[in-house]
Amino acid sequence: MLEKIKALSTEIENYLISSKEDLENYRLAFTSRNGILSQLFEEFKTVANDQKKVLGAEINKLKQLAEGKFLMHKEIIDAQEENNDTNKKDLTLPVIPNQLGSRHPLSLTRSRIIQIFERIGFNVSEGPEIEDDWHNFTALNFPENHPAREMQDTFFINKNPDILLRTHTSTVQVRLMGRQKPPIRSIMPGRVYRNEAISARAHCLFHQVEGLYIDKDVSFSDLKNTLYYFVKEMFGKDIEIRFRPSFFPFTEPSAEMDITCLICKGEGCNVCKQSGWVEIGGAGMVDPNVLKANNINPEEYTGFAFGMGIERMTMLKYQIKDLRLFTENDVRFLRQFSGVV
Ligand code: DAH
Repeated sequence: MLEKIKALSTEIENYLISSKEDLENYRLAFTSRNGILSQLFEEFKTVANDQKKVLGAEINKLKQLAEGKFLMHKEIIDAQEENNDTNKKDLTLPVIPNQLGSRHPLSLTRSRIIQIFERIGFNVSEGPEIEDDWHNFTALNFPENHPAREMQDTFFINKNPDILLRTHTSTVQVRLMGRQKPPIRSIMPGRVYRNEAISARAHCLFHQVEGLYIDKDVSFSDLKNTLYYFVKEMFGKDIEIRFRPSFFPFTEPSAEMDITCLICKGEGCNVCKQSGWVEIGGAGMVDPNVLKANNINPEEYTGFAFGMGIERMTMLKYQIKDLRLFTENDVRFLRQFSGVV
């Protein structure tokens, strides 16, 4: 039987295949259900047990050789056929356009925010997502052991609790004051992290845009006017903004900002809990302690800052009800933004 296998192996190697017919003849002779290989496997069943190991290995090698040769030539012949087909195609027909991807809704909002603020002289700054305690807390006037630190649900690194994932983009304010003298007029979009259970309304990662304006004689009315302008440009002329007193360690006075609920246009609905208003972020005058911590003289300079949620604004603008849609990458969701600019 070993002899037979050897002979077959040579025969297979020398078999010439140059057309579709050759390939079919080859298949019938060797690899088809009634081909020589099948017969060989039948014969193999009758072989004495002590020879099975050696012969089995040889037959398998032969099978691989035969099938390998078949597949290789099939590929070549198929490719040749396809080529011939192409030659027959009508090249004057109009092309079928490729499906273009679409921009992610969060990117759309981010670009729009940048566009609006660039028009009034704000540039764009960035900072790292892995931060230290100084940039996330201390330089922003969070006292040691202050409960406001806990409110942020920070992800710390076990090995070194000084290292953390930034919980807000206010860190970039600190980065910026560290590398640039006033006047500073910048917005800082970016990703932030908080140790929160994921639900329709909360996520452990989301995006904010921070704003910082430091110069001589910057006042609270500058802050209000800037944000009035932004909200009208972003959401439309009939959308109002209101400020509610609040607390942040890094601003004094501080406010939270609400805009007219875009779902019910102020009438009252589930989304705005019947109030007609929805919150989009916080703002305030930069606390003199923050300026001092960052080597800026509070006697000479004042400033305002704000931080807004990009997911929150996107959900309002496009009436998206579940935060998780942003990270699931379901194309049925993403496709709905194709062509939106
Ligand atoms: N960092 C705040 C937060 O994540 C948002 C914020 C509030 C930013 C007031 C500011 C500000 O710059 O002035 O909740």
